[in-house]
Amino acid sequence: MSTIKDIEAQIINDSRGMPTIEVKIRTQSGASGIASVPSGTSTGKKEATLVDPKVGCENINKIIAPKLIGMDIQKQAEIDQTMVELDGTEEKSQLGANAILGVSLATARTAANFLKIPLYQYLNQYFCQISGVELKPAVPTPMMVMICGGKHGGNKLCIQEFLIISQVKNGIKIWHQIEKILHNRKIQFKIGLEGAFSPDIVYDEEALEIIVQGLSEAGFQNGHEVFLGLDIAGNHCHISNEEILKLHKKYNIFSIEDPFGEYDWEKFGQLKLELEEGSKDFLLLGDDLFATHKKLLQKGINNLVANGIIIKVNQVGTLTETLEVIALAKKADYTHVVSHRSGETNDTFIADLAVATAAKFIKSGAPIPKERLLKYQRLEEIQREFK
Ligand code: PGA
Ligand code: ZN
Repeated sequence: MSTIKDIEAQIINDSRGMPTIEVKIRTQSGASGIASVPSGTSTGKKEATLVDPKVGCENINKIIAPKLIGMDIQKQAEIDQTMVELDGTEEKSQLGANAILGVSLATARTAANFLKIPLYQYLNQYFCQISGVELKPAVPTPMMVMICGGKHGGNKLCIQEFLIISQVKNGIKIWHQIEKILHNRKIQFKIGLEGAFSPDIVYDEEALEIIVQGLSEAGFQNGHEVFLGLDIAGNHCHISNEEILKLHKKYNIFSIEDPFGEYDWEKFGQLKLELEEGSKDFLLLGDDLFATHKKLLQKGINNLVANGIIIKVNQVGTLTETLEVIALAKKADYTHVVSHRSGETNDTFIADLAVATAAKFIKSGAPIPKERLLKYQRLEEIQREFK
């Protein structure tokens, strides 16, 4: 056993140049661990509340740390519960979900370091304990955004993310191919928040055509080694059911995230029924719909609205609650996709989390910016350990 000796929070900058929280924990035994907190740009109303990172750091240093010092670093459930109770609000608005999450993630990393085992292994053990089911860690397939619009793009495209689902090396090839196509077609572009192209085009279909051309010119076939996905981010982009089905059929789109707004439960359910008429092999993901909350996922399961869930640690604010949501998803046969946020740091925690819970997929942006690539590289490192 090793008890917490001190907890220190400080401000660092995220990939958008915005302040966020980094937490370092040290134990009596000399083990330590650091974790940092991501944040979103296209956030939903159901997400836990974040406080100003400066306030969050003060809350950690002055309120959370004194409560947790002396606790056993391996008692993740108790540590998370203590913070939830200390906060006392449903949405973690008192201390801030970003403050609580920083400590929660740093706790797990410190415990893994203390035990001298990889983080994914530590998380896997805790996940098995929470879910009551034995599960072998497994490396997920990346969902990589190639073209962006909406809140991430700052261009005229409505759909937020046009993704390809494949191995990282394929994603890099396709990304470069798309760059060539944009140059050849003389389309101006910027680079969006997650490293994807934000082209100066108007129609979502044109973005899909560019991606399909890019993957075929890179030597792939849509639906074989490479699959397509969309994050419509339906809180901000309004497309009809018919239009979505049309895109799904025409471009053989495997995965559709947040096709509608975060309160449009019926529309999700209707789309699911219609997708099922076509084939059983699709992924309909709720992101802002579920906000990584157990009650919301249970509502979705009861009402047959989706078959997958996006998992973002900062939507709920503790590791324990995140793992509880994943356990529920698995029980209901929902595919869970562990996801980054548009505001990221160099922390690779989500790569270990995805492996620990044997997520089929992980979303970590285009495989180009450092803070995104680091997560994919961590997956490759784990993959090598498995061999
Ligand atoms: P966000 O977007 O991190 O900016 O909220 C990601 C998403 O909607 O999946
Ligand atoms: Zn999303």
